[in-house]
Amino acid sequence: MVNILISGIFGHMGRNVLELAQADAQIACAAGVDLKEGELCGVPVYDSFDKVTQKIDAVIDFSSAANLDNLLAFAKKSGCALVLCATGYTSDQLAKIGEAAKTIPLFKTANLSVGVNLLQKLVKQAAETLGEAFDVEIIERHHNLKKDAPSGTAFMLAESVNEAFGGAKEYVYGRQGMVGARKSAEVGIHAVRGGTIVGEHEVMFAGEDEIVTLSHSARSKKVFAAGALKAAKFMCGKPAGKYDMQDVLA
Ligand SMILES: NC(=O)c1ccc[n+]([C@@H]2O[C@H](COP(=O)([O-])OP(=O)(O)OC[C@H]3O[C@@H](n4cnc5c(N)ncnc54)[C@H](O)[C@@H]3O)[C@@H](O)[C@H]2O)c1
Repeated sequence: MVNILISGIFGHMGRNVLELAQADAQIACAAGVDLKEGELCGVPVYDSFDKVTQKIDAVIDFSSAANLDNLLAFAKKSGCALVLCATGYTSDQLAKIGEAAKTIPLFKTANLSVGVNLLQKLVKQAAETLGEAFDVEIIERHHNLKKDAPSGTAFMLAESVNEAFGGAKEYVYGRQGMVGARKSAEVGIHAVRGGTIVGEHEVMFAGEDEIVTLSHSARSKKVFAAGALKAAKFMCGKPAGKYDMQDVLA
């Protein structure tokens, strides 16, 4: 049995994780943490990690990048694994995450879906095969409540493209005005927001007279919740280190 704590439990993702967790015989949701105290489907919810007394094997976080310090402090103190699923971390925070992974088992991914993690591999392969002759543009679409842009997944896909070019690519976010001709080193990244779109990512390789498009569309938040639980089970009892979805799926 894996005892989890859901951070951001009152949010859209937190509720989806709780619903799947309560239907999973291998998982027990021992507690939640959010901005307000309360209770959800029989699970006690605290407004601070300091109030958690239950034994926790893994924390699944779907709160906010702003909550990072509290999460790291709790994981260090309690010895549990940390499954970081929120997006929008600054480069300083990413450095802190890397440092913390030296002492705690820490999982982080911008996208928990199996499909997107396959897409990541396919995008790298396509970039290696198509090379400089194809211009790469990434278009992501999300619901109108999403706070960060572009999505963490769009960055993740851009990094996969960039790896294929030895880090020589330069990211350009949207375009406006007299920007001049496109440079071949550019990877364009575009964020579309509207309605209830769960999450769509498209990577377009535009060459001379032909276009290759690789894309993924999430139809419900359940794919991410299922990925988070899979990651929590995988992380339980792991030694300190930094893990991602590719480790879980390997
Ligand atoms: N990695 C993935 O695959 C994936 C998938 C979906 C969403 N996300 C990310 O997960 C995060 C949450 O998404 P959501 O749609 O559930 O958002 P949401 O706004 O519906 O929920 C966030 C919840 O966290 C709580 N919260 C915010 N700041 C907090 C803090 N400092 N301490 C404690 N609780 C806090 C809020 O009160 C809210 O209940 C976002 O960063 C989003 O981009 C990641």
